[in-house]
Amino acid sequence: MGFPEGFLWGGATAANQCEGGFDEGGRGLANVDVAPVGPDRAAVVTGERKMFAFDDEHFYPAKGAIDMYHRYREDIALFAEMGFTCYRLSIAWTRIFPNGDELEPNEEGLAYYEDLFRCCREHNIEPLVTITHFDCPMHLIEEYGGWRNRKMIEFYERLCRVLFTRYKGLVRYWLTFNEINMILHAPFMGAGICFEPGEDHDAIKYQAAHHELVASALATKIAHEVDPENKVGCMLASGSVYPRTCSPDDVWAAMEYARENYFFIDVQARGAYPPYALKRLERKGVMPKMERGDEEILAAHTVDFVSFSYYNTRCVSTDPAEQVEGNLFMGARNPYLEETQWGWPIDPKGFRTTINEIYDRYQKPLFVVENGLGAVDEPDENGYVEDDYRIDYLRAHIEQMRLAVEEDGVPLMGYTMWGPIDLVSAGTGEMKKRYGFIYVDRDNLGNGTLARSRKKSFAWYKKVIASNGEDLA
Ligand code: BG6
Repeated sequence: MGFPEGFLWGGATAANQCEGGFDEGGRGLANVDVAPVGPDRAAVVTGERKMFAFDDEHFYPAKGAIDMYHRYREDIALFAEMGFTCYRLSIAWTRIFPNGDELEPNEEGLAYYEDLFRCCREHNIEPLVTITHFDCPMHLIEEYGGWRNRKMIEFYERLCRVLFTRYKGLVRYWLTFNEINMILHAPFMGAGICFEPGEDHDAIKYQAAHHELVASALATKIAHEVDPENKVGCMLASGSVYPRTCSPDDVWAAMEYARENYFFIDVQARGAYPPYALKRLERKGVMPKMERGDEEILAAHTVDFVSFSYYNTRCVSTDPAEQVEGNLFMGARNPYLEETQWGWPIDPKGFRTTINEIYDRYQKPLFVVENGLGAVDEPDENGYVEDDYRIDYLRAHIEQMRLAVEEDGVPLMGYTMWGPIDLVSAGTGEMKKRYGFIYVDRDNLGNGTLARSRKKSFAWYKKVIASNGEDLA
């Protein structure tokens, strides 16, 4: 009972949040590089404020991040010490194609990831690779407008073909777009979209979404052609949506809100735009332009598995007085839940609900590829952190995940918690919002030695993995 044999345990990171080395190895500039820490970040990542280059007034945390670009061997060895059997990471597109529209890839970038994957294999760690995790070459944004332009499909296809061919046999598990629904909430970060005054945001977002959906289906096609062993997944920023009250208006609003996010996965997992989406896009006058053949591509190349991040559930109310801002999602406060230091609700039971809801909807194998607690850590002079709060959070969530598997029968492939090593926050750009089992000596403005040290949770997670999720004490 409990987790099946071979269940994959590990952690997840994204290139821009940990690598640094932004101008090394022939790498080009990306959207994620120019997102600063501080109050201006929100306007930049949502595409409201154009920031296409560095300026002197801001600090850009992705430039150096935690220097994993140079330290990946040391970091992967620490993951192996915890017993990881899986490591989810992302490719920086601009290491492979610095501008994005070249015909030939950058060998130095390809060699870098090849060595990283080999290092994983040496430690018996299965790499799970996100092809784009909030990552778009700046040149493609300046020259083509990012994913609003259909040309992006061709550039992405080329990237995929190169990756699948080069890493055949080394990588088997792929995710096409991280949190694809994030395009609705942070379009610059999610799809390299920056708005001009007077533009219809929804029309642009859904056009870009269509391009990403077609690109994702083509990536799945190519992956299977290159190696039938490849398994390709989509990736949703998940979280069941609760109505704030049982008023039918709130219930309906919750359903609509859930559908807004499920829309993407409905297409990727079932192979067609669902009727509710077609009607809604038509009604709002934002139906994306499709080309002949798109529908067939979407239908023929659905994903092999569905992956998702889970941090919290959402709560929706039709009462304007109930609206609060949290994460990049708007909603109402749930009075039954405690919140993290960053105001994110903590809802372990909602994790079980969400896992079941996703499985009911898609009936495909599932993979939890992000879950974790961002918190302020206070290290002692040796960099040791007594992070019982993190252990408590993860324990409660893993317990609920076990119930989803054991009691509800959901086929779950694995669990990669978010940020096994402290890294830059995607939402705020801070280092202070830490998720890791491994502490990294670096602050919000880039000060610190970058030294790594084990927190209390490091030994705890090692025990969890060794017991295949049985020993959560
Ligand atoms: C997910 C992203 O939205 O949440 C990660 O895929 C991100 O990139 C994670 O880091 C946690 O969010 P944050 O804002 O705390 O970094």
